[in-house]
Amino acid sequence: MDQSLLRYLKELENLRNNQIETLAKVSHDLRSPIHSLKGIADLGIKKVNKTSKSLKSMLERNKQISKSFVIDKPIQELDVICDYFQRIIDISSDAAFLLEDILDSMKLDNDQVRYRMNENKLMDVARSVESRLSAKLGAKGIKLLILDQSEGKTCCFDINRIVQVVSNLVENAYKFSEKNTTITLSVNPTNLEVKDQGAGIPEDHFSSIFEKFKQGGKNSSKGLGLGLFICKKIMADHHGKIEVRNNHDRGASFRIVFGEN
Ligand SMILES: Nc1ncnc2c1ncn2[C@@H]1O[C@H](COP(=O)(O)OP(=O)(O)O)[C@@H](O)[C@H]1O
Ligand SMILES: [Mg+2]
Repeated sequence: MDQSLLRYLKELENLRNNQIETLAKVSHDLRSPIHSLKGIADLGIKKVNKTSKSLKSMLERNKQISKSFVIDKPIQELDVICDYFQRIIDISSDAAFLLEDILDSMKLDNDQVRYRMNENKLMDVARSVESRLSAKLGAKGIKLLILDQSEGKTCCFDINRIVQVVSNLVENAYKFSEKNTTITLSVNPTNLEVKDQGAGIPEDHFSSIFEKFKQGGKNSSKGLGLGLFICKKIMADHHGKIEVRNNHDRGASFRIVFGEN
């Protein structure tokens, strides 16, 4: 190959590596203040709860106080302050997830992710996702139903990365589902399907939703459109694939499939 072309390719590679390093540094630097914010808000909630509790017990002990001092109002205001702190916590954890997604997509795009491949059970993935997300789903009245059809079989994959994929799919299902519906995880020997009862996806979007920064639907504002890109790349790196379809009744289903031996 021509020397100048080689030099050019080398420079291009260096530029790419610099870009990833800079992004990693920026993400890391942003991560610390975001975690500090969350920590401070956590402390705030604890303090406010403690004060509110002691005011309430003071009120209980001496009913007269409530007549002589206006004490109900400050207690209500403390509850409002607690809600503000909770919002700071929620927003900072969303921001932390977005940062992770940016960094991850960059690394995946440049094949810089190292996988720890082992024989694992897809049922362990389903259980791990359930324990991570059931509280969040429960708060919206959404039930996570796990159907075990895996016959105890194993597949070769990086368990942390596949938990990341399935969590992403369940988070999407959650985001696009109405309250009090069900998300079903069907676990089979070499595939796992996440089925929701949400709005479904227009068929002409089936391939574009897997592209970087592609979003659609009214609930997509929370996010950057990187989730499905990350899922597709992780599955491709496992020599597997991800498929999407609309259900007969309502909602969409995403299925991750590993190489069938
Ligand atoms: N379960 C689902 N139901 C309906 N639409 C979905 C679902 N999952 C993904 N989508 C569509 O695919 C788009 C891309 O998803 P994703 O890459 O995870 O990005 P984000 O969640 O940040 O919007 C979403 O904006 C949405 O339009
Ligand atoms: Mg998403």
